[in-house]
Amino acid sequence: MRLQGKSAIVTGGGRGIGKAIAKKFLQEGAQVVICDVEPKRLEQAQEELTSFGEIHSVVTDVTKRDKVMTLVEFTKGKFGKIDILANNAGIARFEPFLEIADENWQATLNINLSGVFLCSQIVAREMKEQKSGAIVNMGSTNGILGEPGLAHYNATKAGVILLGKSMAIELAPYNIRVNSVCPGFILTELALEGGMSEETVREYTSKIPLNRYGKVDEVANAFAFLASDEASFITGTELVVDGGQICQE
Ligand SMILES: NC(=O)c1ccc[n+]([C@@H]2O[C@H](COP(=O)([O-])OP(=O)(O)OC[C@H]3O[C@@H](n4cnc5c(N)ncnc54)[C@H](O)[C@@H]3O)[C@@H](O)[C@H]2O)c1
Repeated sequence: MRLQGKSAIVTGGGRGIGKAIAKKFLQEGAQVVICDVEPKRLEQAQEELTSFGEIHSVVTDVTKRDKVMTLVEFTKGKFGKIDILANNAGIARFEPFLEIADENWQATLNINLSGVFLCSQIVAREMKEQKSGAIVNMGSTNGILGEPGLAHYNATKAGVILLGKSMAIELAPYNIRVNSVCPGFILTELALEGGMSEETVREYTSKIPLNRYGKVDEVANAFAFLASDEASFITGTELVVDGGQICQE
């Protein structure tokens, strides 16, 4: 119960890794608010997770400041404080660089990078008053090394990692820690919807030293560690969860 007595917001908690993070936080004793832009998804996730502990949900688009303010007010109203922010919401669309449409470039930047900025700034203002907090951002190995077909996505994840480091420096005086988790290949709906064929899945897996794709729970474990007091002297860093993929040439 490493998160006993703590309250947390998980963005993009309607499915995939976000839902797994919310579940893990609940299992570790936290009270959780999940948000997602998809109401049905969110409702289903809340229903699924309710047996694990106190969970609420708020339909929120992380790219809209007023919606994020409402999410934060709701969470404060329920729990009186916000100890943990897991910035997980994100999208990925496979498109060759030469064919990226302006609207896809913009949408990827808005959700993956500006969403992290908005949620972090609004929550960190609360954490500053509390003089404590932990923010964990969803990076990716794609924010460390390039991958064809994902230039916009890669750019946002690199941005998230450095935004996190910059926030870590500026927020340290208020006892707020900021870190990123960088998963490699985790098989979720996002990967499949993004246009990844079964053949590509096999090809990816063969490049991973542990010879398998990652599971959502394995990413959730990293979030729980960085959000917990066990990581009390860890800030401004990234934790790679990729089965060893990027440690080789
Ligand atoms: N799956 C992987 O292999 C992998 C690897 C590295 C990083 N990631 C990152 O992990 C995160 C979650 O990925 P996933 O695979 O679980 O994806 P997913 O599509 O299953 O889940 C993402 C959730 O975010 C929500 N969302 C999208 N736009 C939103 C918005 N504007 N406001 C609020 N919620 C919004 C979606 O509705 C969805 O429920 C993403 O940031 C992704 O980039 C995934």
